[in-house]
Amino acid sequence: MEYQQQIGGRAEIMKILGDHLLKPTIIQEANSYLKMSRQLAEIAPDCCFVYTNGELLEIRKCNSCHEPSEIMKIISMMDSDSFGNFLIMRDMAHGMNKPRIMDLKLGTRTHSDFISEEKKALHIRKSALTTTSSLGIRLCGARFTRKDDRQETQWTKGLGKTMSNEKFWNAMKIFFDIPQTQKVSVVRQLLKIRAVIESSPTHRYFGCSVLIIIDDEEECNVHTKLIDFASMARSEVDTPQYEDVDEGAMMGVNNLLQILNAQGSS
Ligand SMILES: Nc1ncnc2c1ncn2[C@@H]1O[C@H](COP(=O)(O)OP(=O)(O)O)[C@@H](O)[C@H]1O
Ligand SMILES: [Mg+2]
Ligand SMILES: [Zn+2]
Repeated sequence: MEYQQQIGGRAEIMKILGDHLLKPTIIQEANSYLKMSRQLAEIAPDCCFVYTNGELLEIRKCNSCHEPSEIMKIISMMDSDSFGNFLIMRDMAHGMNKPRIMDLKLGTRTHSDFISEEKKALHIRKSALTTTSSLGIRLCGARFTRKDDRQETQWTKGLGKTMSNEKFWNAMKIFFDIPQTQKVSVVRQLLKIRAVIESSPTHRYFGCSVLIIIDDEEECNVHTKLIDFASMARSEVDTPQYEDVDEGAMMGVNNLLQILNAQGSS
């Protein structure tokens, strides 16, 4: 089944087995999940299985998880030649009647080390022209219903690319028109994300997004996670070496925190 709550991204994510998502991905993201540190896994979506090289590998089954055989059945329908890569993860919006969702691309650099020079140049140009370079964060999509509005508001990644800092700031004001307790939760979760970025100087969170999913009906339901690890880098043998904290990602999280704190009392 098509996943209705997907607001960004290229590949079409499927909703499977009620509360899980099947994301077609590339080997780099499959590997990111397979090698993920425990602390990074805590701020990433719960990834139960990774399917890669024709094999279904268990990462960390969630407490409403399903048998590998059930998942394999679905994958074999999707992927007849078995060369694909898939993530099987928990749907962060599961059970929400009125989810308020936003995807913010993090960092001042969005491209991976392993793409063509041409593609890198495109990323660099896009970054320079958008809030990616000025704020370390760019709107990639959002979907929510404003107070006293019946119609849903949808913001596309195209819109995000045209935003000045001021427009971005205003957009955040509109999105975060939520109860104070929910704002506090987002701030707390962002601080956790910042702590992980700060303590992993060998990692570069290129292309990652902060995904924020807030339930407009149940006040206690707030999830802020880091997603999309297809382009992330880490210092390993035969890869570029990174030694200091990812300042671009830190800048994005800090700016978002500043925006939230500035509206804290509203
Ligand atoms: N675990 C999840 N729970 C809920 N929604 C998710 C989850 N993972 C991804 N999504 C949705 O799918 C979109 C695309 O996911 P992402 O990992 O960024 O894919 P891509 O690599 O195609 O950019 C996100 O913007 C979000 O709306
Ligand atoms: Mg994405
Ligand atoms: Zn699971």
